[in-house]
Amino acid sequence: MNVLVTGGAGFIGSHVSERLVALGNQVQVLDNLSTGKRENLPPSELLNFQEGDIRDQELVAECCDQADAVIHLAAVASVQASVDDPAGTHQSNFDGTLNLLEACRKSDVKRFLYACSAAIYGDTEVLPVKEETALNPLTPYAVDKLSGEYYLGYYSRQYGLNTSSFRFFNIYGPRQDPSSPYSGVISIMADRLLSGREMTIFGDGKQTRDFVYVGDLADLLVESLARTDMSGSIMNVGTGKQTSLLDLKSALESVSGKTLKVSFDDPRKGDIKFSCAAVTRLVTCFGKVPTTPIKEGLRELLG
Ligand code: NAD
Ligand code: UD1
Repeated sequence: MNVLVTGGAGFIGSHVSERLVALGNQVQVLDNLSTGKRENLPPSELLNFQEGDIRDQELVAECCDQADAVIHLAAVASVQASVDDPAGTHQSNFDGTLNLLEACRKSDVKRFLYACSAAIYGDTEVLPVKEETALNPLTPYAVDKLSGEYYLGYYSRQYGLNTSSFRFFNIYGPRQDPSSPYSGVISIMADRLLSGREMTIFGDGKQTRDFVYVGDLADLLVESLARTDMSGSIMNVGTGKQTSLLDLKSALESVSGKTLKVSFDDPRKGDIKFSCAAVTRLVTCFGKVPTTPIKEGLRELLG
């Protein structure tokens, strides 16, 4: 199979690309290297790296012409970045998605997987959040991710594109870049722990997330590529367990034997307090949930 992985040089994309290549697929990576890195990708004759932007209609059309399937991961992944720059992030997170869907409609792409996000639920009264839970996107990032999901539904119904929207909860693991204040919290915690520097916890540290090990997510996405029975599907990808930042700190300290220095600051604007996935759909569809226990995932991350 020829698979186009947008954002393939990024954290999640590089794990997905690596697995696809290991299984003998031809992989095209389209990435503008805004946060991704070329060196995240394995050297392989099966992998073709194209530095470019999903906002470039002509380039996107060329890539889709050769592809049997698309795994669309390219986006500005930071919720905070979207709060700081709604219009700029919209171009990648929404316009780029629509470009891809249009190119798929005009070519022979048979399967389209999309990285949606738990952020679209916002703050909910009842946990865990089911896919049917009322949506409450609190940030430009969440609005764009949800709009993309709605468009997938439209292209599935109108044009028969076999789409799946996966609402990822918080993904962590090796190659998540800790270098920006916008980076994922586990990557920042691990980096500060190993370097002995202090990290800032925004809020009281009691906020929770449903953390998923990246290897489990990559397996799931690759497995779902061949599914012909999922068109128009929407699904949470979480473990069904929530962990607070304070518990995460303790887990990292117990795995490493080191102490993480923290200071506390005000909560971030638009930040969600508690997050946890209902996993019934995932279990019904795949017969399993992501299995890597958090301490094992943290051990892999610390190396
Ligand atoms: P990442 O920043 O490591 O990966 C995103 C990749 O997309 C990067 O390689 C970046 O260079 C590329 N990119 C960004 N804008 C682009 C553009 N306009 N054209 C081409 N390439 C572009 O982040 P990630 O954590 O690997 O996230 C991957 C996807 O999963 C994103 O869509 C993100 O919103 C989504 N997601 C991530 C999480 C998480 O916890 N990491 C959770 C939910 C959803
Ligand atoms: C993350 C993802 C987003 C995804 C969403 C799904 C990243 C960068 N963001 O957003 O793509 O759609 O999960 O649920 O991967 N925090 C600190 N100190 C820090 C950094 C963060 O206290 O230095 C706090 C934040 O305020 C927040 C929590 O940690 O309360 C998690 O933050 P973050 O890792 O940025 O994730 P989300 O905002 O949940």
